[in-house]
Amino acid sequence: MAIGNQQTTSICLINQKGGCGKSSTCFHLAGAFAALGQRVLLVDADPQGSISQAFFGSDAVEQMPAWETLAALFDDRCNHIDPYSLIRETHVDGISVLPANQHLAEFNSPCPERGGVMQYALRDFLEPLSSFDVVLFDCPPNLYQCSWNAMIATQYVLIPIPPEDFGTQGIPAVHQAVTNARILNPSLRRLGHLITRSDRRMLVHQEYESRLRDLYGELVLNTTIPERSAFKVALACRQPVQMHAVKSMAAARTRELVDEIIERINNRKLHKEAA
Ligand SMILES: Nc1ncnc2c1ncn2[C@@H]1O[C@H](COP(=O)(O)OP(=O)(O)O)[C@@H](O)[C@H]1O
Ligand SMILES: [Mg+2]
Repeated sequence: MAIGNQQTTSICLINQKGGCGKSSTCFHLAGAFAALGQRVLLVDADPQGSISQAFFGSDAVEQMPAWETLAALFDDRCNHIDPYSLIRETHVDGISVLPANQHLAEFNSPCPERGGVMQYALRDFLEPLSSFDVVLFDCPPNLYQCSWNAMIATQYVLIPIPPEDFGTQGIPAVHQAVTNARILNPSLRRLGHLITRSDRRMLVHQEYESRLRDLYGELVLNTTIPERSAFKVALACRQPVQMHAVKSMAAARTRELVDEIIERINNRKLHKEAA
């Protein structure tokens, strides 16, 4: 299955809010890509280590030394380490993880533009990698060095937004960060806004969704990710919903999301409009 004209497709999920479903969407999206036979690398760019914990458990992740995590890419003391040894296979076929934990926090500076060569750490790490079809970046709930690094390294950004007041605040700052990152990564494209954790039975969610669609038009993906316990249950079982509950509505929506992402990337017109 072709996605665009690049050998590897990279997508970074960002928003400066916590609880938007960035990590959850990243985790389940990886499963849906893997179920299509794509080789997926999940880059855990968040010191909270949610993606790493989802696969390896919180105890194991907390105990990982810095030199076995993404922090090693930022840390001069780890220059002797083969960076590719950091990538771990998971128990899910087709999914590998570049893990992170609390050791990443000290490198997540709020002034990323002053980071010098550090700004390119993830880009330089990923550029020679050809063994993955899809790279997904899970970012922290801020636009600091880790999110900045991911935006410099990726082709596309996807912005998960819950259709509520707190969820929709701060979107202009996210757009500004993408614009700023384009100075260092001119080919960076906005894949769009993804409405997450949506409950269409709630009037307030319907209203926020239509407001977002009025404001941002085609930049809002047609697919929405509903609030569904199947996502949480699958996560608790350390399985993407595509593997854990393939017949659930949650899995169906995640598949639709993958289809729409592929369609957007392959559709050059929309690709330009979303630029
Ligand atoms: N679509 C969803 N349906 C049900 N629960 C969800 C959904 N998306 C996220 N969650 C849950 O909400 C919490 C916060 O989501 P998370 O993905 O960690 O947000 P973020 O990474 O943006 O901080 C987690 O417990 C997660 O399992
Ligand atoms: Mg998260």
